[in-house]
Amino acid sequence: MAQSSTANDLQGKVAIVTGSSRGIGAGIALELARRGAKVTITYTSPKSETLANDLVSNIAALDNGSQATTVQADLSQLDAPDIIVAAARAAFGDHIDILVNNAGVLFERALQETTAEDYAAIFDVNVRGPLLMTKAVVPHLQAPGRIINVSSVGARSGFPKLALYSASKAALEGLTRGFAAELGGSGHTVNAVEPGPTESDMLNDVPENLIETQKKATPVGHRFGTVDDIAQVVAWLASGHARWISGQTISASGGYTMLYSDLSLYLLVIHVSHFQQALNISNT
Ligand SMILES: NC(=O)c1ccc[n+]([C@@H]2O[C@H](COP(=O)([O-])OP(=O)(O)OC[C@H]3O[C@@H](n4cnc5c(N)ncnc54)[C@H](OP(=O)(O)O)[C@@H]3O)[C@@H](O)[C@H]2O)c1
Repeated sequence: MAQSSTANDLQGKVAIVTGSSRGIGAGIALELARRGAKVTITYTSPKSETLANDLVSNIAALDNGSQATTVQADLSQLDAPDIIVAAARAAFGDHIDILVNNAGVLFERALQETTAEDYAAIFDVNVRGPLLMTKAVVPHLQAPGRIINVSSVGARSGFPKLALYSASKAALEGLTRGFAAELGGSGHTVNAVEPGPTESDMLNDVPENLIETQKKATPVGHRFGTVDDIAQVVAWLASGHARWISGQTISASGGYTMLYSDLSLYLLVIHVSHFQQALNISNT
């Protein structure tokens, strides 16, 4: 059960969350709204229209100044980003503060069965979608803008038959770093969040033996993540509290993946060498 947030740290902010009819995206949209944001909810399947409308009603019931609108757009299509940005601007005015590139697809494919169409099916949504969404949003992004890309622990792991998915998320993290470098001068931050296995429909598409192994390898509680576990991290990155964080990937996986950066390795080396020097001095 999602915990309610008392913080109003996104009051008046305008957000777009792609793929927010259900799963992690719906949890993120709800948490941003709990913190006061006006949220554009996107979906693609006609059957998800009801889910998206239910989320709008739930957000209206918060009665905290937040609002929501919905738009249907297929992010595998080139015109989707402009459709989504136009809907956000029509509902909430000219500026946008937060973009969460969450929509993603996953399916299993063994290497020898993989086709160019499979490659396009994954990369068009998981990589080209966030690329073109970011491009469409940036002209309207009000500093300090926040762009948050939803990656996966798969970006830094290898799983049989999921190479395309892993590669797409690794590419998304590359986009994250590049955009952070390029957009920082305008006052924007760009980060990625890497969920581990999280309770959602997508989990049904991951092989059972793999998710059981992942559960055992998750130090915190040996459980799957909840959508709220992920939403809290994304909402924090969207807030002013995370203003000095950019170009990073944060693993939200209960410790399943423990990321370190070159900088932390460098600091560790410096620390060890200072320690050795101190030992040498005390031994002489
Ligand atoms: N669940 C996990 O264990 C897990 C772990 C790591 C990372 N992730 C990542 O987290 C993100 C959300 O995953 P989830 O588990 O919440 O997935 P999900 O339950 O399958 O929901 C996917 C969402 O993306 C939308 N979507 C799918 N294809 C789309 C397209 N072509 N155009 C526009 N929207 C599209 C769906 O819209 P419709 O409802 O209209 O289909 C839905 O709102 C993904 O990027 C995924 O890779 C998930």
